Amino acid sequence: MARILTGIQSTGTPHLGNLLGAIRPAIELAHDDANDSFLFIADLHSLTQVKNGAELRHNTYAVAAAWLAFGLDTSRTVFYRQSDVPEVTELAWYLNCFFPYQRLTLAHSFKDKSARLEDVNGGLFSYPMLMAADILLYDADYVPVGKDQLQHLEMTRDVAARFNHRMGDTFVVPQEMTRTETMLIPGLDGAKMSKSKGNTLNVFDEPSALKKRINREITTDTTPLEDPKDPDSAVVWKLYQAIAGEAKGQAMAEKLRAGGYGWGHAKKDLLETIVDGYATERDEFNRRMADLGGLDAELSKGAAQAREVASSVLDRVRTKIGY
Ligand code: TRP
Repeated sequence: MARILTGIQSTGTPHLGNLLGAIRPAIELAHDDANDSFLFIADLHSLTQVKNGAELRHNTYAVAAAWLAFGLDTSRTVFYRQSDVPEVTELAWYLNCFFPYQRLTLAHSFKDKSARLEDVNGGLFSYPMLMAADILLYDADYVPVGKDQLQHLEMTRDVAARFNHRMGDTFVVPQEMTRTETMLIPGLDGAKMSKSKGNTLNVFDEPSALKKRINREITTDTTPLEDPKDPDSAVVWKLYQAIAGEAKGQAMAEKLRAGGYGWGHAKKDLLETIVDGYATERDEFNRRMADLGGLDAELSKGAAQAREVASSVLDRVRTKIGY
């Protein structure tokens, strides 16, 4: 059985793009019986950016509630909060001492911000070693990541190999599992949906808020109601198709091409698919967010399981180093 492990930064409530593009496929992978799966919320990594305790906690809860609302089964996946496993920071220190400073200066996470060095903290600089520790601490075989994380994973493999070479076989050298971008979800402005672009749809929002966003933010042309319209260039149709699926998407495309069906109708249908299609998940998300003690209990259970593995691997590392 292969151990797969992945982490999610906690930067707020996941949006539609996260849910369809990353969360749903990751849950499928985790529920595959051929895998032994670990999934955690990287709230120590978030500290490189967020310094407000209430915000840090809230973001973690929102991410946890979203995963659970979308069906993550914690009896099949070890689901935990990174900061609940302090072993990871000890391992990160060791790894830092085995990795060249000059290679760290090449990490995108640091380089992208290095134009304004006064904004860069030491944590951001050694971010890749904390990520390596996240992975190596659990003897993970495979790490599913998006393309933007491939360099970090390469550094993980590199530091594991350096340590093994210097101190004798200690770490499993993990392999990447690149997410085939199953679904590219457009944002409300047509560019890829992303929090930093402010073009997201939050499926957990109340229907009235969703309606406002859809009506105000999705632009359409001024083709009169009766005229034929081109679905392929319309964000409202692309989003509808991504959510409702191929068959319903094609049905809407035909209506648009036929004429007599306006952009307003399309927006109304889009809203309805989101409101109805995710009603169960929205209720479950709200229920979870109203019971933070329940979320804490869920995450603590995962942390206890994670720490069992973590402490034994860390013992192995300490012994190899000679402490
Ligand atoms: N850096 C990753 C991201 O921003 C999150 C992450 C932290 C991670 N630790 C990890 C992903 C370990 C995979 C494995 O997406």
